[in-house]
Amino acid sequence: MTVTQENLRSVLRNVSAPVDTARGLPGWMFHDPEVYALEQERIFARTWVCVGAEDDLPRVGDVMPVEVAGRPLFLVRDESGYLRCFHNICSHRGALLVTEAGRRKVVACPYHSWTYALDGTLLKTPHICGQGIHDSPSLDKSLHGLKPVRCATWARLIFVNLDPLAPSLDEELAPLAERWAAYDFSLLRFGSSEDFLLPANWKLAIENYVERYHLPWVHPSLNGFSGIDRSYEIFGRLFVGVGSRKVTPPRPHGPLPIFPNLPSDAFERGEYPSLFPNVLVGLHADFLFAYVLTPDGPHRTKERLYVFFVGEESQDPRYAAAKAVMHKLFADINREDMGIVSRLQRGCASPAMPGAVFSPAFEKTSQAFQRMVAERLAAPSEPLSVGA
Ligand code: FES
Ligand SMILES: [Fe+2]
Repeated sequence: MTVTQENLRSVLRNVSAPVDTARGLPGWMFHDPEVYALEQERIFARTWVCVGAEDDLPRVGDVMPVEVAGRPLFLVRDESGYLRCFHNICSHRGALLVTEAGRRKVVACPYHSWTYALDGTLLKTPHICGQGIHDSPSLDKSLHGLKPVRCATWARLIFVNLDPLAPSLDEELAPLAERWAAYDFSLLRFGSSEDFLLPANWKLAIENYVERYHLPWVHPSLNGFSGIDRSYEIFGRLFVGVGSRKVTPPRPHGPLPIFPNLPSDAFERGEYPSLFPNVLVGLHADFLFAYVLTPDGPHRTKERLYVFFVGEESQDPRYAAAKAVMHKLFADINREDMGIVSRLQRGCASPAMPGAVFSPAFEKTSQAFQRMVAERLAAPSEPLSVGA
């Protein structure tokens, strides 16, 4: 269908109504390529998008290609250990520089061998003025380094923002950082990761994650150790989700190290917000997990799960079995979600789907996420400045 501003404003009005009369995003918003393209420009090109974890690039010289809003980018850990992000484009004729993760001393273009330092400085332009003449009087190398993209980290996750005018990541996450001030995220240590491919629109994965209404039917075992009767909702400008006052998963291999100095009511608490637009986080006293969602067209979403544990002590091999159990537990819950979200996708592809009705008790969170999407899509949008 042709997507118009009027359609989008009407969607926004419907989803912004009080929860008991609101209608969710209509089915076409979960499979229309025009909507997908708009989301890429109006959401993913303008917000802090999570692209991985620091542990994907642990050493100086590690590089990793990523893509945000259709722009090829790459991450690199520079000589001083600082993470940087650049447009993955050679300053000469625009060849893609990094096509797979690896380790480099410098970044050399495979086409004509223009070579960049890990901080993006253009170092060499071989034979540019003829055999053996490597410098050009008309080319000031200092003006032709790689184009940087804003890059910042939080809780070991790496975020990039194509919009040079957006507020900083710290500013955007301040309300959540304040909520979780008792947890010292500098203690997080990488545990494990796993990739999933969800045959559904990215928004469905999120609206499902942030409501607990489905637990008794889709996750009977989770509902056993973290029942919906113990749940509460969490709302912020850029995050929304649920919490559980008491999460008591089976621990056949004993306890794991926990964050120090937590208030006692945090020992068994779990909180599960989605950070707009593409991360699902789960925080507990003894571990934090994150699902990084990468939309791959309107019908498919790549998901990468990262699990982090607490403190150097958690790296001791005696905790390996307990960590593996925790990873499997939450990965299996995701597999249960993937099954039901795939069904949601197939239903939503029908033109007969006018938009969800919401449970006032449990789905104000899903409504709030859908509203975040609709607000950004319905807003008039200026083109980004060149270089973004
Ligand atoms: S395009 Fe990269 S060196 Fe020519
Ligand atoms: Fe679920």
